[in-house]
Amino acid sequence: MTTIKVAIDGPAGAGKSTIAKIVAKQLGFIYIDTGAMYRAVALKAIKNNINTKEANKICIILENIDINIKHDEDGQVVLLDGEDVTQAIRTPEVSVGASNVAAIPQVRIKLVELQRMLAAQNNVIMDGRDIGTYVLPDADIKIFLTASVEDRARRRYEEMKLKYSDCSFEQVKKDIEYRDKNDSSREFAPLKAAEDAVIIDTTNNDLEQSVAVVSNLIRERLM
Ligand code: DC
Repeated sequence: MTTIKVAIDGPAGAGKSTIAKIVAKQLGFIYIDTGAMYRAVALKAIKNNINTKEANKICIILENIDINIKHDEDGQVVLLDGEDVTQAIRTPEVSVGASNVAAIPQVRIKLVELQRMLAAQNNVIMDGRDIGTYVLPDADIKIFLTASVEDRARRRYEEMKLKYSDCSFEQVKKDIEYRDKNDSSREFAPLKAAEDAVIIDTTNNDLEQSVAVVSNLIRERLM
């Protein structure tokens, strides 16, 4: 079966997941958030008191990890060793940990296998950092969503402050800057726009405008 593959990459807070989720629903595609898989590995390490930068120990965890992705009416459900961790992987500690484990090649190789398998079975919009460059180099459309760091931190802060009353804008911005640097500078499949990606800067766009830009682009190319 030939499936349609849309790759959306970009740095944290650019709006990838919110936009991809809405557009996938409009098109009847499955939305796959690959960041959630790196988050699940980080969560398992944190639960086992393992430093997310310690490659040797993370590799041991990998030998016995079961990450599964399911879909229900609310979207993607992430199962870690059979447990639903969809919410538990959204903490600031897991965000930074995910960026750390994502720099370990063995982690990426294992998760990319799962990502490619999902894309072979469904029409997908897949978001991440290396989807257009590494996971699905033959994707039908590649989009690179970006925005200024101030804007991305502001959006992420608006989300986080609803959950964590003690979170500060400065800390959210610092975490985003850390992840930008870490994700772009790693050797194996770093965050970067594919040469054939359409670059969309969402700074100053509201959600509706960004959804329209992405949705129109996909429709023009595919339909
Ligand atoms: O998209 P996200 O913020 O949930 O991703 C969490 C971290 O996982 C991100 O900082 C880098 C890593 N990641 C990655 O390296 N490659 C992907 N395809 C997706 C996420």
